[in-house]
Amino acid sequence: MQIIGNPNVNNTCNVQSPVSFNGYLGNEYVRAYGRHINLRHETAFFREADTLEYIKDYLIRTFPNIAVKNILIGACSTGEDGLSMKMIMNKVPSRIVAFDLGKVAIKRAKAGYYSISRPIDKTGEEYISNWGLSAYDDRFLAFDSSKKLTKKEVQYRKAFNKIFKEVKTDKSRKGILNRIKLFLNSFTEFHFIETDSKFFKLKGLRKLNYEYLQGDIRDLDKITNGEKFLAFTFRNAFYHLITTNDDFRMQLSEKQTREILKRILPQINKALEMKGLFAIGKNENEQVCDMILLTKMLKEYGFKESVFDSNQPYCHIWKKVREC
Ligand SMILES: C[S@@+](CC[C@H](N)C(=O)[O-])C[C@H]1O[C@@H](n2cnc3c(N)ncnc32)[C@H](O)[C@@H]1O
Repeated sequence: MQIIGNPNVNNTCNVQSPVSFNGYLGNEYVRAYGRHINLRHETAFFREADTLEYIKDYLIRTFPNIAVKNILIGACSTGEDGLSMKMIMNKVPSRIVAFDLGKVAIKRAKAGYYSISRPIDKTGEEYISNWGLSAYDDRFLAFDSSKKLTKKEVQYRKAFNKIFKEVKTDKSRKGILNRIKLFLNSFTEFHFIETDSKFFKLKGLRKLNYEYLQGDIRDLDKITNGEKFLAFTFRNAFYHLITTNDDFRMQLSEKQTREILKRILPQINKALEMKGLFAIGKNENEQVCDMILLTKMLKEYGFKESVFDSNQPYCHIWKKVREC
């Protein structure tokens, strides 16, 4: 399939590939727009952190006179995405509004309890990476020593320790560990990987200039309520909008997808300041959207390509260049 896009990679886009497991397990059934949707809340702290790093640098460079950078995080799941943005912004003052369609996800996010899991031994670690799973992106946060961490990981862990305190149990969700174990049990190959968890509690949201809302990107105007943002992320979530009910491989027709994008894109444009950024996920498998159509329509609705990942045939960070 041809895609107008990244000159650095072969110009094909396999939109049929299934969504891969990435990060924590957890889902929630909701009814929205006349259908049942199985929301998948898989996520991790510092997932695709380079996108967030790019946003930070871009905002500092492009909006030097705006003291507090206003950032909107859509599909925030249980909060890891927005909190990672906050931690990466670090000393640069920012206001974050994070939303998700899942009521349970937002409730958990507000509770602020998290479990970070990691394989107990090196074999498990290697096994996971050999299988190409990018799960446990943030497992380095649970390592006891900093010795084996990269410079970035040390920096992220420092930012993490500033806003979280370690606690004995994960009160709100009895531990992600159990869910990971469930996952491992359903795949015989993973049986031998033992995992270990540490539990953390967010020290407090108010001080962070950070808020959660429950809402649907299809009604973004209601969420933003006239407020403008310098950046908006809606990462690894498009598939919920353009696939049928429970089956992430069954895409809606082009006409139906177009209708949904027609509804969403003007609202995204309106939510952003001129030159503001819109970021989607970096891994094509996690979008499962018709990226050719999305690319075409983003251009129609006032966006221009900003950043390509060298491995992907579509642009994952867009810039608003005109009102629509
Ligand atoms: C796989 S998670 C991605 C989480 C995070 N953005 C990341 O990249 O790790 C997808 C999330 O999209 C949310 N979602 C799905 N449809 C949505 C919608 N219409 N509006 C807002 N959030 C939605 C789901 O509830 C789920 O938490």
